[in-house]
Amino acid sequence: MKIFLTGGAGFIGSHTAVVLLKAGYEVVIYDNFSNSQPSVIDQISKIAGKRPETIEGDIRDKEKLLQALANVDVVIHFAGLKAVAESVKEPLKYYENNVNGTLVLLRAMNEKKIKRIIFSSSSTVYGIPDKLPLTENSPTGGVSNPYGRTKLQIEEILKDICAADHLFSAVCLRYFNPIGAHESGLIGENPNGIPNNLLPYVAKVAHGILPYVRVFGSDYPTLDGTGVRDYIHVMDLAEGHALSIPYIVKNLGWKAINLGCGKGYSVLDIIHAFERASGKKIPYKFLPRRPGDIAANWCDPSLAHTLLHWVAKRDLNDMCRDSWNFELQYQKK
Ligand code: NAD
Ligand code: WQD
Repeated sequence: MKIFLTGGAGFIGSHTAVVLLKAGYEVVIYDNFSNSQPSVIDQISKIAGKRPETIEGDIRDKEKLLQALANVDVVIHFAGLKAVAESVKEPLKYYENNVNGTLVLLRAMNEKKIKRIIFSSSSTVYGIPDKLPLTENSPTGGVSNPYGRTKLQIEEILKDICAADHLFSAVCLRYFNPIGAHESGLIGENPNGIPNNLLPYVAKVAHGILPYVRVFGSDYPTLDGTGVRDYIHVMDLAEGHALSIPYIVKNLGWKAINLGCGKGYSVLDIIHAFERASGKKIPYKFLPRRPGDIAANWCDPSLAHTLLHWVAKRDLNDMCRDSWNFELQYQKK
């Protein structure tokens, strides 16, 4: 089977490419490298022992997509911009790239009669949770930023397409907080500049590149007052995509599925786990809450177990160990 990965050179896409290549799928990576490096393809090839076909292209370029999509069985759609704060400052860029880009991709798929898409959605679609854990039936909406709204809008677009075309299938994987790296340390998360997300920031502090972790909020209604999230190892997430392929081949229609571990860890839990993994002291300071942040979220991952036969195999120590290993090998001091 031929699997087409938009954004396949990025953090989650590259790990998924490795898992799919190792499982024997034919993999095509389609990426404009706006947030990744072409050298990632060499690293993927080293780990997997074979090279994925790679096409430099933009999801907003329909002509290029029409050529690239030849004989594709399933599209996994990772491509998108994901910086929450940037999306508040430049909403048009986000709607243009994420929503319009998806529409162009769907038009091209339609012309090529490709009717299966696995979409990178996010726990952000749940907005402020009124009850935890979050299940796929929890209400969506009330999202605090344009980035999150693009995810919800794309989910809705896919739902409408499935309602109109009974031969179409769309699986929206709602990721919780992906962290970690491949155990080889050859691929991982490598944001440009100062990281927005907690784990890459903590890794840079452990490395001595940044002086201390800014802990955003110490007065949340959580056990230690800091924000709680459901962190998931990126390799578990990648395996969730691989297991979604047999599911989408057998099932028509729209489905949302949570991918998280089902456990919540606070910012201080993360800092302490990273101290254990790295053997480094990690200084931190409490700052006010970050605008738009919620106190806590974690999911009920049982639907993924039932439908995909997926469970997360890696724990918080594995996540921190692999993030640190990647940091040591690939971040320049
Ligand atoms: P990433 O930025 O590392 O990867 C995205 C890839 O898409 C990059 O390689 C980038 O170059 C490419 N891309 C962006 N716009 C493109 C375009 N117009 N045409 C072609 N390629 C384009 O991000 P990631 O963390 O791997 O996230 C992958 C997907 O998962 C994104 O859609 C993101 O919104 C979603 N997601 C991520 C997280 C997270 O915390 N990392 C959580 C939930 C959902
Ligand atoms: C985690 C916790 C922060 C940085 C974001 C997106 C979400 C999804 C995943 C894509 C929170 C705290 C963080 C720091 C801190 N992405 N924190 N100091 O906000 O849960 O989710 O990424 O879909 O849509 O919103 O992740 O890693 O930024 O924050 O104290 O320097 O760490 O307040 O409690 P978040 P995060």
